[in-house]
Amino acid sequence: MTRPGNDSAGRADALRQVARHFPTGVTVVALGEGSSVHAMTANSFITLSLDPPLIGVAVRSDGRFCQEVRRRHWFGVSILAASQRDYATFYADPDRYRILERKPLALTSTPFPVPLVPDCLGYFVCEVRSIQRVGDHDLIIGGVWSCGESVDTAAGPLMFLDGIIQASPTTTDVLSSR
Ligand SMILES: Cc1cc2nc3c(=O)[nH]c(=O)nc-3n(C[C@H](O)[C@H](O)[C@H](O)COP(=O)(O)O)c2cc1C
Repeated sequence: MTRPGNDSAGRADALRQVARHFPTGVTVVALGEGSSVHAMTANSFITLSLDPPLIGVAVRSDGRFCQEVRRRHWFGVSILAASQRDYATFYADPDRYRILERKPLALTSTPFPVPLVPDCLGYFVCEVRSIQRVGDHDLIIGGVWSCGESVDTAAGPLMFLDGIIQASPTTTDVLSSR
């Protein structure tokens, strides 16, 4: 059994270690327009309510995304396809906007102040409904104004499992391994 340590670093390590066993999808959350676009990789995405349609994402309170979303009130969530690992790694890199020679991977603009990952599996365009402080993260709750999915979902989602960003096993793989 993994027991949380007495100190906060030990408790965080224990939580991370156990959470590795819970597979999630991978999203890019993004906001802004033109040269003021900001985006980051997030796996804490959750659907919260169907009526009204609400989703949530937990982001570090001291991160740039958290500051920006408080100012701009709109954000988008792009669910990454298995082939979009490069988006996941790039938008998780803390140095992504400082390294001049690395151009940010292109995002697609929308009629809202919300950029999206092109050809992602699905997306949500959201207006911020509320922001709740939860420990060292903020839970950003978004009211969904628009959502959609890719015409081609055959490749399946990108996944985060055991600390690794990986392609999901396709239905065919699962059936053939039986
Ligand atoms: C697979 C994966 C999932 C992540 N999920 C989250 C998340 O849900 N919330 C979060 O705050 N950071 C998450 N991160 C880390 C951020 O993407 C990373 O710290 C980023 O640089 C934060 O950007 P910002 O500080 O400019 O807002 C994740 C990283 C990876 C690789």
